[in-house]
Amino acid sequence: MNDSIPLFPEDRPAAAWAEGRPFVPGEGPAGAALMFVGEQPGDEEDRAGHPFVGPAGRLLDRALAEAGVERGDCYVTNAVKHFKFVQTGKRRLHQKPDAGDIAHYRPFLLQEVKQVAPRLLVALGATAAQALLGRKIPILKLRGEVLPGPLEHPVFLTVHPSFLLRLPDPDLKRQEYASFVDDLREAGRHAAG
Ligand code: URA
Repeated sequence: MNDSIPLFPEDRPAAAWAEGRPFVPGEGPAGAALMFVGEQPGDEEDRAGHPFVGPAGRLLDRALAEAGVERGDCYVTNAVKHFKFVQTGKRRLHQKPDAGDIAHYRPFLLQEVKQVAPRLLVALGATAAQALLGRKIPILKLRGEVLPGPLEHPVFLTVHPSFLLRLPDPDLKRQEYASFVDDLREAGRHAAG
């Protein structure tokens, strides 16, 4: 991975459910043309301290490679900086961040946007889109569109890789995966152009 950009002043407390646990910072070069924003770190990301290194990250890596986008050239981060979960026995089950969680972490995200200053932000799923655009976005309806985003950085909308992992039907999964690769290729073209 690339150097992390130093962020997150110590004077900002974590969300109540994340107290005492280190946040998972974004990674990638300042000045990256593309900045990917996911939902929140998952179990593996929380343990490793790096974004998108678990199952969703592996799928993202594969799709980026097929789209001809070099992950190392991109900045990769999350809307929410801690893993939100409920413990059931030994397992830590993902919990979707709510509007309060998104609002809590939004200043951190905007600080990253300011420091990275990407040509294009890519919202991976509804939570990222809400965090970047400040409102709920019907992601399946608007995917592939570019909307005016924060600090004058445009936002490209696409699905979250976990959405693809959860699809039960193999044909639909293949089809949706191909559309995701197309979206990433389009985002790469947009950022290059
Ligand atoms: N899902 C996310 O949104 N971000 C990660 O870092 C991992 C999984």
